[in-house]
Amino acid sequence: MTRRVRVELGARSYDVVVGRGAIRELASLIPTDAKRVAIVTQEGLPAEIASYLPTSVLVSRHVIGKSEEHKSMSTIERLCDEFAVAGLTRNDLIVGIGGGMVTDVAGFAAASWHRGVRVVHVSTTLVGMIDAAIGGKTGVNLRAGKNLVGAYWQPSGVICDTVFLDSLPEREQRCGRGEMAKYHFLTGDDLLALDLDARIARCVQIKAEIVGSDEREAGRRAILNYGHTLGHALEIASDFALAHGESVAVGMMFAAHLARALGRIDDARVEHHRKVIVDHYGLSMSVPAGVRRDQLVELMHHDKKAVDGLTFVLDGVHGIETVRGVEMSALSSAFTALSVP
Ligand code: GLY
Repeated sequence: MTRRVRVELGARSYDVVVGRGAIRELASLIPTDAKRVAIVTQEGLPAEIASYLPTSVLVSRHVIGKSEEHKSMSTIERLCDEFAVAGLTRNDLIVGIGGGMVTDVAGFAAASWHRGVRVVHVSTTLVGMIDAAIGGKTGVNLRAGKNLVGAYWQPSGVICDTVFLDSLPEREQRCGRGEMAKYHFLTGDDLLALDLDARIARCVQIKAEIVGSDEREAGRRAILNYGHTLGHALEIASDFALAHGESVAVGMMFAAHLARALGRIDDARVEHHRKVIVDHYGLSMSVPAGVRRDQLVELMHHDKKAVDGLTFVLDGVHGIETVRGVEMSALSSAFTALSVP
């Protein structure tokens, strides 16, 4: 059985199909007037997914590299050159098949090609299904920071077939649990109490509701970045030895200590964070050796949220919200709590 979760965005609303066998519904998301489909994917991902496209479309396949360094402007340029060769018109469609990196890149290529063509995502990882493929944030990295160039570009539909998760390595499952713990803090829901399909559908529903209320992050959507200010910096400072979901887990623990240092929460709430992140979702809060606090502070200054000094999403009496202009003294005590030199 599959579930459909609607992302309500007026004329740009779309369905996210979740469950075992959801891929069989791919054809239902393909616009009937598209003549060509450009699949953007990585080596090693199930090639048979293409067989679920309508037989009426001409399919081209565009492979991007696997490591984070390929989430770059040069990859976008190469993809667009290939779309030109494939004859992809503004009426055609891009299908991103893969994890968050693939759907971020495919989405940005779709936003850019002919100033915007339709895109459908087939998400194959837990992080992708519950976060990256949903909500229309697309982009690539620069040396200065993650996702610094991009566009809001909503997909026309998303497939989250949980069969793909059967063979997902433990590390990627762990990364998914990092984003899930984030939703736990945002809603108080114990997501691990649900079966896998229901858990993913619930995460999608939480994200869909937030995105529907603030598509372009004028305010509330920023809560989806809980743990991400330090998280993104950690990914870069560790040269991606720490993956996204693992970094977000450390970032949420850091945010709890920071909120404590700013008097926004008490010790019991910090301990609650530890219990949820470490004991319940099975995540680590250790920072890789060699990562220094001055390096992390420098990287956090490049964060997109850093409009007015350092900006964090922090817990407090009014729940999780954006806090601007955070003082270095508070940061210092949060770094010390996590033993970051
Ligand atoms: N991953 C955060 C967002 O989509 O807003």
